[in-house]
Amino acid sequence: MRDPRRVAVLISGRGSNMRALVEQARDYEVVLVASNKPSAEGLAWARARGIPTWGGESKGQPREAFDRQVNAACDDHRVGTIALAGFMRILSPWFVEQWRGRMLNIHPSLLPKYPGLDTHARALSAGDSSGGCSVHIVTEELDAGEVLGRSEMPILTGDTPQSLEERVLAAEHALYPRILNEFVNR
Ligand code: GRF
Repeated sequence: MRDPRRVAVLISGRGSNMRALVEQARDYEVVLVASNKPSAEGLAWARARGIPTWGGESKGQPREAFDRQVNAACDDHRVGTIALAGFMRILSPWFVEQWRGRMLNIHPSLLPKYPGLDTHARALSAGDSSGGCSVHIVTEELDAGEVLGRSEMPILTGDTPQSLEERVLAAEHALYPRILNEFVNR
């Protein structure tokens, strides 16, 4: 049985949620930051902090073949929990099965509203009075697993997708570490 406190964070880009997860770790330790983009900004940050990293280009690779490489990196670091944080690649059913109940994601909407992309623009054009973010368990269905926590905030007059995104992102940085600290203890 893997120690759930040993966490891998999977990113594709800037990795601001990953940084928040590292900086607010209390009951878990980030033992690996992995990316499907070897040039991801977040990897350089993690490396500079002395956190083990793994980067492999996913483009052009069959889905499961790539996922098996990520899985091997997680095995090498005895990872028990995976936190997806801006990981912009659909995972294979095989990988999801390996990590069933042990893989989380942060999504910038109040799930079950607006799975997928362009969440803030969709909330604004629907005339919603609030927006927010959710942390959920990853299943085969995109952004559809059990929701572990949400952070909700009012949508203000004059909000644009960008202004809403900025406020929600700040809320993500507080929500994700809080939920992950709780999750590894449950
Ligand atoms: C965040 O908005 C997150 O909710 C979504 O992708 C974005 C990643 O941003 N899944 P960052 O790489 O964590 O800065």
